[in-house]
Amino acid sequence: MRINKYLSSCGIDSRRKCEALVTAGRVRVNGKVVTELATDVKDGDVVELDGNTVSVSFKKTYILLNKPKGCVCTAHDEKGRKTVLDFVKVNKRVFPVGRLDYDTEGLLLLTDDGELANKITHPKNGVKKTYAVRVEGEPSAAELKRLRSGIEYNGVAYGSAEVVVVGPENGGTRLNITISEGKNHEIKNMIESLGRRVLFLKRTAIGELRLGGLSRGEWRYLNDREIAYLKTL
Ligand code: URA
Repeated sequence: MRINKYLSSCGIDSRRKCEALVTAGRVRVNGKVVTELATDVKDGDVVELDGNTVSVSFKKTYILLNKPKGCVCTAHDEKGRKTVLDFVKVNKRVFPVGRLDYDTEGLLLLTDDGELANKITHPKNGVKKTYAVRVEGEPSAAELKRLRSGIEYNGVAYGSAEVVVVGPENGGTRLNITISEGKNHEIKNMIESLGRRVLFLKRTAIGELRLGGLSRGEWRYLNDREIAYLKTL
């Protein structure tokens, strides 16, 4: 980790202001003054500012949020809407792994582990994501077959999906759909291609990781077993 990022992660100041501390010769790494901004700090290095040791954990943070609808998956929203970071107050710069739409709820991971986030979101890794979907009306057997075998809609190809019909729900039909691509608005577009609308959409699982009993807007840290599982994906 770059020295300015390290100091900033310790909560000392912004990365820019921490650069100034380095160039002013106020920072030592393993007893030696460093003024080079390209200095990298590794796990185990001793960093001092004005003679006082400062330290940051190299441990990554993994959070599972039950995203409510009515918020966006970006750090800042130019329209001033709520973001998922309004729900997760931690002293780490975590970011959402992939996106759920404003009106979609359910399982969202947040982390500062870019490598793992890439692994989970990159289509080539085919990580499965499961959604509870309420669709308008009652899809026919032919429509379900189309969802299961893959669809092209508005020039975009959507791969095959696992589809389980749960039954009638609030005037529509509840389906559990598992996809492994994660294209923009994938579920909504797949359903729209049948001439139907999505009435409710919630992500319930990523691979074997489940939302469990979290209420809307609640979050928790992943446990070691869950983190180890995600790293096998
Ligand atoms: N598919 C969608 O259409 N929207 C989401 O938020 C997630 C999957």
